[in-house]
Amino acid sequence: MLTDPKEPLVRWPEGGVTRIPYVVYTDPAIYAHEQKTIFRGPIWHFLGLEAQIPTPNSYVLAQMGDTPIILLRDGEGTVRALVNRCAHKGTPLLYHPYGNVEQLMCIYHNWCFALDGTMISAAFERGVRGKGGLPPSFNKADHSIPALRVHVISGLVFATFSAEVMDFEDYVGPEFVANIHRVCGRPMTILGEYQQKLHCNWKLYIENVKDPYHASILHAFNGVMKMDRLTMEGGIMKGTRGWHHISYSKMTQESGGEVYEQDNLRSADIAAYGFGLRDRSITDVWDDYGDGVSMTIQTHFPNFVLQQLRNCLAVRTIVPVSPTESRLVWIAFGYESDTPEHAANRLKQANMMGPSGLISMEDGMIGGMVHHGIAGDPDKAAVLEMGGSGIDPIPGTRVSEGSVRGFWTGYRACTGF
Ligand code: FES
Ligand SMILES: [Fe+2]
Repeated sequence: MLTDPKEPLVRWPEGGVTRIPYVVYTDPAIYAHEQKTIFRGPIWHFLGLEAQIPTPNSYVLAQMGDTPIILLRDGEGTVRALVNRCAHKGTPLLYHPYGNVEQLMCIYHNWCFALDGTMISAAFERGVRGKGGLPPSFNKADHSIPALRVHVISGLVFATFSAEVMDFEDYVGPEFVANIHRVCGRPMTILGEYQQKLHCNWKLYIENVKDPYHASILHAFNGVMKMDRLTMEGGIMKGTRGWHHISYSKMTQESGGEVYEQDNLRSADIAAYGFGLRDRSITDVWDDYGDGVSMTIQTHFPNFVLQQLRNCLAVRTIVPVSPTESRLVWIAFGYESDTPEHAANRLKQANMMGPSGLISMEDGMIGGMVHHGIAGDPDKAAVLEMGGSGIDPIPGTRVSEGSVRGFWTGYRACTGF
């Protein structure tokens, strides 16, 4: 698309973060701007679990926006993150999704790098029989693989390209650090990994995760089974600058559920699913943390989710692929202390939640539907006025889009829109 360089990429409508111009979901120039100002900008990005790199020299491949990353544990046990790109011509140094390495050797011309990114050697660097090769002025120290700033917390690994962004714990805020320790602060085991192709811009998915308004409506099953209703005791926390959010609820404390029936919501129509499940194991839960909080969804700007939905535990990352496509990467986990029955039940709940189940299938579908609806009208805008125009949580209720507006507050700060 040819654009006038003097024209701004977007003219944000009146109304601040209560209006989201459709063009930000569809324009390739805006997508490229996001890569620079968000994903290579002042944010902390989730890369993976320490449990994925349990031993010295193990690695797993990750993605920070469009940039391929190697998350590894070096020979001394230190967790590191390097750009997965040879300093010669840019070939990815590793291409199998996980494995073990002692050094990084490019398949193209065999340039070789240590696990801290420093260049060790190049094939034929002194030429052959004194001819050819790299010039004497070539300094290997100038050709290291870029290493990222890394922060490890309770088995989760975050990284950033930014030297300026505040420390991780300040970036998210103390309640968020506490919930990470609560859900991840004991030896974890990986139960499974899966990916879901989303036919929508990445921001439509993160908006969906931050939107408690839809959870018991689109996901009729949740409301029908009284697993997640906005009438349950719960709330929202917004984190540093309001860019992040935690939504939590207590399953055992529902009161006033009749609003679902009075307002004639689809999820009140219990006939849609019959009168209950024959296999109760999918909805029977146990209290993992002894605090009665049966659901927490924690998001970090821009694209990380830590999920405790009853006993279904997972981390999710939304990887942007293009303006119109994203990849949702899930890692389901449990604890080393789990009984075989608990581990099996976590997996069963994960299947109910995942792309072949009832929740994520619906979230993926709705993102694709919205993208289809907006693609032709970049000048129009979404309306986000549930709960007013602010980003502060409203005590005692989750009937608000404040946390979605919080995402857009971070988005506008990073992109300058
Ligand atoms: S591109 Fe890696 S050695 Fe040439
Ligand atoms: Fe959802």
